[in-house]
Amino acid sequence: MADLVRLARHDDIAVITIDNPPVNALSPGVPEGIETLLHGAAQDSHIRAIVILGAGQTFIAGADIREFAKIVSGERPRISLDPFLRAIEDCLKPVVMAIHGAAFGGGLETAMAGHYRVIASDAQVGQPEVKLGLIPGAGGTQRLPRLAGVAKAVEMCAGGQPIRAQEALELGIVDRLLKGSLVEGAIAFAREIASKVPRKTRERDERLRDAAPAIFGFAREKARKLGRGMTAPLAAIDAVEAATRLPFDEGCRREAELFDECLYSPQSRALIHAFFGERTVAKIPGLPKDVKPAEIHRAAVVGAGTMGGGIAMTFANAGIPVIVKETAADALDRGMNAIRGNYAKSAAKGRLSQADVEQRLARITPQLTYEGFEQADILVEAVFENTVVKKQVFAEISKIAKPGCVLASNTSSLDIDEIASATARPEMVIGTHFFSPAHVMRLLEVVRGRGTAPGVIATAMALGKKLGKIAVLAGNCPGFIGNRMVGPYLREAQFLVEEGASVEQVNQALYDFGMAMGPLAMDDMAGLDIGWAIRKEFARFEKPGVRRPRVPDLLCELRRFGQKSGRGWSLYDADRKSSPDPETAALAEKTAKEFGIERRIILDEEIVDRCIYALVNEGARILEDGIALRAVDIDITYIYGYGFPAWRGGPMFYADTVGLNNILMRIQELQRKHGSDLWSPAPLLERLAKEGRSFVDFDT
Ligand code: 3HC
Ligand code: NAI
Repeated sequence: MADLVRLARHDDIAVITIDNPPVNALSPGVPEGIETLLHGAAQDSHIRAIVILGAGQTFIAGADIREFAKIVSGERPRISLDPFLRAIEDCLKPVVMAIHGAAFGGGLETAMAGHYRVIASDAQVGQPEVKLGLIPGAGGTQRLPRLAGVAKAVEMCAGGQPIRAQEALELGIVDRLLKGSLVEGAIAFAREIASKVPRKTRERDERLRDAAPAIFGFAREKARKLGRGMTAPLAAIDAVEAATRLPFDEGCRREAELFDECLYSPQSRALIHAFFGERTVAKIPGLPKDVKPAEIHRAAVVGAGTMGGGIAMTFANAGIPVIVKETAADALDRGMNAIRGNYAKSAAKGRLSQADVEQRLARITPQLTYEGFEQADILVEAVFENTVVKKQVFAEISKIAKPGCVLASNTSSLDIDEIASATARPEMVIGTHFFSPAHVMRLLEVVRGRGTAPGVIATAMALGKKLGKIAVLAGNCPGFIGNRMVGPYLREAQFLVEEGASVEQVNQALYDFGMAMGPLAMDDMAGLDIGWAIRKEFARFEKPGVRRPRVPDLLCELRRFGQKSGRGWSLYDADRKSSPDPETAALAEKTAKEFGIERRIILDEEIVDRCIYALVNEGARILEDGIALRAVDIDITYIYGYGFPAWRGGPMFYADTVGLNNILMRIQELQRKHGSDLWSPAPLLERLAKEGRSFVDFDT
């Protein structure tokens, strides 16, 4: 306990420091430690006021998230933080909370139990519990509306987004913003208020009265839209509403009931899995400890198309100067206009100031030559998805690049080793598969080739973080993790249309499952020509006589490439809004007739099973092949790259919740119906199901 929390006397002010690295979570021992030291300081007649702060990078990042699984499994009892917070609030001497870094979740709840709060100007406060499928469970939904007002409390508790120090000051969550030394400022503040009677947040009811009833209805509507399928945001709104209807103690009891419902829900297990998964994927087993990532100071991108432009913006947004090279002036102009257009949109929405836009644009140098490439620390190729074209580019850039320069390809499916063979330094070649739109999507799939040097892997992973992405390491195979799995997923969606489901039914069924968009809508957004090009590249691997979807090729032959050409699986207007197209339905019917495919009524359940189990089955093969390091790497790839609902934890975690044996039986049923070439259970799935294990067990 002594290690986790300590006390120092500064004349008449006691300073209690929480020192529980890395983020001062309220792990067992921390609340008890604070309470004991607080009690001692309150008894000490020389002490007039008490400051509580965090050591290291942050104040308190919240409850210890690792404890939740232990509570749910019954390994540990759930101990309410409420008595601890009341002990702070009931302290007879003023308690000043001094916040730096983050006061999140239980951290903000602890801060609000103090009588005063001071904050460093770059700190943040928030109630992000909903992102873990939880709600604030230590009075946050009761104290925050008393400080910040009901509307803001609803927004913060249901949305989970943190706010900055300045806003926290304006809202009344904190009392003073400090520049310079936090500890000195907090001690000085404590002396100022030392003679005042401590004010208890729980007794400050005045701001509860400004709650217009419409706030809650509006918030629920917004939560249903933004957090589609998630239960925690609605529970958080109920809890804040309780603060406006019930006395504090009863409000806290209601909050605790709602918190428990969330804690024991599959959604919080899934979201906590995703929270830790996001951090696990950065850890690469087997990478020698002495390997350090190289700093990326300058970058260059080849190709200013859809992806090249977005990748250039990503570098510029992270403060890295970048050259963009094209083959012709009109393509370069188109690319730069798209970049300018994207920045203008961000400025119009108030996300960037005009000065920011200009600063970022100034970091991007468009040109038609390789001039300056010799100074770059990384070169990213984003030209057409064609091995011959890519090899040509790699042969050129490897002649110009300086020693130590990383040579990266944005290929979404092609063989990294084959591309690397065009260079004299395959150890410097790696895949950096950004997702479209590259400046928005969080996922970066880093693909290691046979000869990729460990240092290059470390550099690409660290670069991902610097660019604000979540980097997942994949092995080299057609489609890597993400697109290899998308293959069978899309195949099933396309088969279902040929078998009688409408495009809209397929899209809706998976949207209702929680996917960000239906598979055929995703296909139309990515461009059907991309899949067409990939099918041509991989046609040599196809087994003769095995059924394959016919409609996508027919659509491409009609130049229906999806959103970009106004029609694909669906029709698109100028705003890219979709509507059903009878021509697609007619093509599906014609195809069924020609290939003897029986047309029938298909239930949504079959659509979801076939598409999602196709993902899971391929995921299991990827895992067994060592293409993904762990099942969680697949989950994170799908959540951040393909819009898989985080509250289902990713495809492999979802499979665990359904039960691998149930999935195996359904796949065996599909195998009997559709044949072993299309549906045969992955050996790993069979093995784990037989042993009664799960993919999560396989990871640990
Ligand atoms: N509990 C346990 N571990 C935590 C944690 C927490 N609350 N917050 C972070 N960690 C761990 C991470 O898993 C990571 O561990 P690792 O090094 O082994 O991978 C380490 O701390 C560092 O975290 P980050 O890599 O995220 O560090 P950053 O500096 O990038 O970010 C942060 C720091 C902004 C505090 C970020 O970690 C964060 O947002 N944490 C979660 C905050 C949160 O959700 N709090 C609410 C918890 S629930 C709660 O409080 C319930 C209450 O109402 C009762
Ligand atoms: P695109 O067709 O929009 O752009 C490619 C650009 O490269 C064109 O502007 C072309 O003029 C240029 N180019 C071709 N050869 C060049 C050369 N030698 N030097 C300079 N420029 C050259 O293609 P897109 O969609 O940007 O795809 C690029 C790569 O990114 C492909 O490998 C693709 O598979 C991958 N990718 C695409 C995604 C998407 O959704 N569009 C998603 C993820 C990866």
